Formats: sequence, structure tokens, C-alpha cells
Amino acid sequence: MNAALETRGLTRHFGGFTAVDDVSFSLPAGARQALIGPNGAGKTTLVNLLSGALPASAGQVVLGGEDVSALPMHLRVQRGLVRTFQISQLFAELSPLESVTLAVLQRAGRGAVWWRPLRRHRAEQDEAAALLARLRFSDAEATARTDLLPYGKRRMLEIALALALKPRVLLLDEPAAGVPPGESREVLDTVAALPRDVAILLIEHDMDLVFRFAERITVLALGAVLAEGTPAGIQRHPAVREAYLGEMAHAPAA
Ligand SMILES: Nc1ncnc2c1ncn2[C@@H]1O[C@H](COP(=O)(O)OP(=O)(O)O)[C@@H](O)[C@H]1O
Ligand SMILES: [Mg+2]
Repeated sequence: MNAALETRGLTRHFGGFTAVDDVSFSLPAGARQALIGPNGAGKTTLVNLLSGALPASAGQVVLGGEDVSALPMHLRVQRGLVRTFQISQLFAELSPLESVTLAVLQRAGRGAVWWRPLRRHRAEQDEAAALLARLRFSDAEATARTDLLPYGKRRMLEIALALALKPRVLLLDEPAAGVPPGESREVLDTVAALPRDVAILLIEHDMDLVFRFAERITVLALGAVLAEGTPAGIQRHPAVREAYLGEMAHAPAA
């Protein structure tokens, strides 16, 4: 069976500096995989190479068996490779239901017929409402102005917007960053409970959250894959412990 996503020798230089160094890894279909590594390890750069936000210096990105290395970001999105983005100001005055309905319309290639009220797009709005309910938005939250929602809910809305595109692979770069501890656990649990038709690669620095979420962990250090394995295996890995110094002490016992 093909991996949902695979890289071969993926490399990115910035001038004389190699931020991502010959990375070959694979994300199985339905994976709940975490990408961890010290600050500056190259995690965000790797996600940018996967999504097509940045061109690679060398190597390939293979999505469901198809080499998408030469494709721009929007064509990778169309094929099911989606990452989250910080919500732009544009959505501040819209409700989550309105924003997600627009995203569903966009996926369907219909665009919004902007002079027509969104409620006329009945099927798309129903799909958006169901998606938000699955992400634990109450009706009141789904219809409130986005800028009035708690921060954790706004981060969940970013994930909802990505899911509205029906990804096969979802890339999440620190989705709980800045979210208060009580809410961040809910964000990650909600993500972990998504249907298995989407493979998820999560970047997260909070080890408690990583160990709650991940079934496999890939460790990046100095741009290269240092280790890959189950959470228990990674926790015991001497080179990983060394790369993190004291940080792994926060991980729960395996
Ligand atoms: N556009 C860029 N130009 C130059 N250096 C960059 C650029 N983007 C990232 N880097 C460098 O690449 C390294 C990896 O960065 P990054 O991928 O953001 O790491 P991480 O997400 O693991 O913290 C860092 O040393 C960073 O300074
Ligand atoms: Mg980063």
C-alpha cells in the first residue's frame, strides 16, 4: 500500500545553511504522527516544503504515490495535502459557520456567490455545521463572531477550515501554540478523534500533548531525521534524550 505522504531526500538550503537535510520519511494512511525536535531543527521548514509554500533544493514529495514536488501549493491542496494557516483578519467579523461554508464552497469549486446570502447555500452550510459540531462547537459558538470566541476555539476554526477541504493529509504546525493549558488538551484530543480517512502530521513542542496524541514520532535535529518510532521507543532513545537534554523529563512515563 502507498503511504499517504512520503519524502525522499528532501533538502532545503538557505544560502550556505542547510535547514532540511536529506529527509526521507513516510506518513501511513490514517497516521497520527508527531514531528518533534529542538527549536530551529527545521520542522516548520519541512512543513513548508511538504505544502509547497517553499520550493525544495533537492528531493521529492510524494502524495499517495504521486510525485507532487513540482506542483504549486494550491494544486497540492486540490490533491488532498492541506496545512492550517492562521486565520486572517478577513474572518474576524464572520461566524465560524460562515467561514467554513465559504471553505466548503471553495472546495466544490463554486466560490461563493457573494451577493447571495450564505443561507441559500443550504447543502454547503449543512456540511459546515456538521463539521463544526464534530469539532465540538456549540450552535452559539458556530454562529458567533469569530473575534469574540476564546483563543482555543479560533485555533479549532483554523483546523475546521482545513478539514472543509477534505484533506487526505493534514499538516498541523503547533495548533495549540498560545492556547491556555485547559483548552490545548481539548484541541489535541479533538484532532486525535478525527476520522481515520485523514493522516495527520503534528508539530508540537509540549511533550505531554505529543505523547497523548501520537502513535509514531519522528525526531528532527539539525535538519535531519534523528530517530523515528513509537512514543515508548522514542522516549528511551539515547540520542533523542541527549538532543533534548532535560526537556524529555516532562514526558509521561512510558
Ligand atoms: N527563510 C529563511 N531564511 C533563512 N533561514 C531560515 C529561513 N527559514 C528558516 N530558517 C532557518 O532554518 C532553521 C530551521 O528553522 P525552522 O524550520 O523554523 O525550525 P523549527 O520549526 O524546527 O523551530 C533555523 O535555523 C532558521 O533560522
Ligand atoms: Mg517551527
